Amino acid sequence: MVTMADEQVRTLGECRIDSPLAALLRTGPTTKHYVDESDRVLLDDTVSLVAARGVPVEELPGFEPGGPRRKIFFDPSKTRVGIVTCGGLCPGLNDVIRALVLELTNHYGVRRIFGFRNGYQGMIARYGRSVVDLDASLVAGINEYGGTILGTSRGNQDPDEIVDCLEQLSVNVLFVIGGDGSMRGALKIAEVVAERGRRIAVVGVPKTIDNDIPYIERSFGFQTAFAKATEAIRAAHVEATAFPNGIGLVQLMGRHSGFIACYAALANNDADYVLIPEVPFSLDGPGGFLAHLRARVVSRGHAMIVVAEGAGQEFLLDSASSLDASGNVRLQDFGRYLRHRIAEDFAAAGVEANLKYIDPSYTIRSVPANPYDSVYCIRLAHAAVHAAMAGRTEMVVGRWRGRFVHVPIALAISSRNLVDPDGDLWMSVLEATGQPPVFA
Ligand code: F6P
Repeated sequence: MVTMADEQVRTLGECRIDSPLAALLRTGPTTKHYVDESDRVLLDDTVSLVAARGVPVEELPGFEPGGPRRKIFFDPSKTRVGIVTCGGLCPGLNDVIRALVLELTNHYGVRRIFGFRNGYQGMIARYGRSVVDLDASLVAGINEYGGTILGTSRGNQDPDEIVDCLEQLSVNVLFVIGGDGSMRGALKIAEVVAERGRRIAVVGVPKTIDNDIPYIERSFGFQTAFAKATEAIRAAHVEATAFPNGIGLVQLMGRHSGFIACYAALANNDADYVLIPEVPFSLDGPGGFLAHLRARVVSRGHAMIVVAEGAGQEFLLDSASSLDASGNVRLQDFGRYLRHRIAEDFAAAGVEANLKYIDPSYTIRSVPANPYDSVYCIRLAHAAVHAAMAGRTEMVVGRWRGRFVHVPIALAISSRNLVDPDGDLWMSVLEATGQPPVFA
């Protein structure tokens, strides 16, 4: 169970410098749309969850709110900043980079910002340490494009070498834009910084289209990615309804978490089945998925299936396979397997089937952010700059219960955000698809 101590954000020292943003700040206490810096954003949001804690209000677990502080830790005129993007692509990376640079230069007056190229590799001598100076003109318009102007890579690098690099460039603040693997790396960097007695802030902006980082409600780029995925579902559905016994099958990214599959399916409201890693299912037998699908196609003339790539891995023989550079298990192709099993099942039953399979794969994460995600990216970047300039470290910025908050990295990597099979999202999927709660 998460306690107040787990949510405590580490600070490099007392904030003594007047913030250049102080004039913009309201001076009163928390209101409906503003959380005072001394307040906390509660972890729980129902009466029963709060009551179950059995502690006085002031001991309820809650996050430090994001936003500008009246006093800051770093003197902007002497502050040097580094920015790195790591791991798989995600819509909005360039929006975050640009917003970090503009906030640091235009509002805080920071004069030197380094961009490390190709993820953590850009900080390592053996890869030819690749650093670029970032300024407002260099980042102009980059948010119009997908990908990251800095480049990215998977895999962590030696944290000692990274801190050597930060020290040699006299960097005081490092922003890491990355997923859970990159945040594990960021935590190690912050630990080495602490061991060396250095005052370098390490602040993360959590990134993943899978939306699988806990305590941040929703990761940037997720909304754009599932919106793009709806195009594949729409196409497969058109195909499925145009042919006798048509079946549309779309496989979407989502290694451990089926959020993209659920949201894309709900957005179209055309899916009859959604299969995700969090909800196990049987393929064979009278109560299995294949029998149910065949019965539906025979009675209704078509069916639309959405699968998350991490679903059904247990059906694939060699699923105990290798790891990628980030330590993720390399998945087997369940979509293709299912396509084959459906064809086999219909053929064995002597029923015609016209199956159209689409896997939009990387096309959903290489696009620019949509306007909603762009706004979110900018606001996350602003919150990250405010936190770092106030000397916060070993933390990521997030949004919880609709408020910007500071989450210690240790907490953000302590678990995975999963679709709850007993929760209201999965209930909505069952309601929209009409699929049975269990294929057994
Ligand atoms: O982690 C996000 C993600 O988009 C997963 O859904 C997907 O399995 C993975 O990245 C693929 O990334 P790559 O092929 O670049 O390693």
